[in-house]
Amino acid sequence: MRDLPDSADLLEWYDRHARVLPWRIAPAQREAGVQPDPYRVWLSEIMLQQTTVAAVKDYYLRFTTRWPTVRDLADAADEDVMAEWAGLGYYARARNLLKCARVVAHELEGQFPSNYDDLLALPGIGPYTAGAVSAIAFNQPSTVVDGNVERVMARLFDVHTPLPAAKPELTERATTLTPTQRPGDYAQAVMDLGATLCSPRNPACGICPWRAPCKARDKGTAAELPKKTPK
Ligand code: ADE
Repeated sequence: MRDLPDSADLLEWYDRHARVLPWRIAPAQREAGVQPDPYRVWLSEIMLQQTTVAAVKDYYLRFTTRWPTVRDLADAADEDVMAEWAGLGYYARARNLLKCARVVAHELEGQFPSNYDDLLALPGIGPYTAGAVSAIAFNQPSTVVDGNVERVMARLFDVHTPLPAAKPELTERATTLTPTQRPGDYAQAVMDLGATLCSPRNPACGICPWRAPCKARDKGTAAELPKKTPK
């Protein structure tokens, strides 16, 4: 057992194993100085709420081909956007998507704000999306907590308090671990770890970059965490 998980160990794993996703900047591009496009990061994060990566990919590619910039999307007819969204579900997301695109295009000169609080003020952007966009698009040290991240934190720190009561503690843990260097990659690395090795069932603890400091692995409790309050 080592004491605290080190973000450097996770980032090293991410550099080798990051999932290749159409909205992601590949490590080689990133090293060449390519910056993520905030519009694409925002669009992907809105689509990924309540929807799997596999389901989102084709929609994301169709949207960005048809509307390559936030101004293009802002100029789209409502019914065209709703038709492209058909099948993704949670249609309030699509209506807010258009509202947000129009605010950014018409009131913010087509530029997404870079900080968490200004992002949070936009239509359809809640704490999760504000954190994700500020970290991934602008490399701000925001912490991003989705279900995958909650599971990773519950296991790392062997938290047995059930969800949703455990949320504040898991968020606090995730915040403490967020590095000032590469916070955007770190956010995506924790999500990838949760989506791949640190899976709900049969986690692949033996090859996890955080196996040494993981308290649940030490105690053999990983597969039973996080606990959930029965509905
Ligand atoms: N789930 C939601 N956003 C994600 C991202 N940027 N990378 C991986 N999984 C995600």
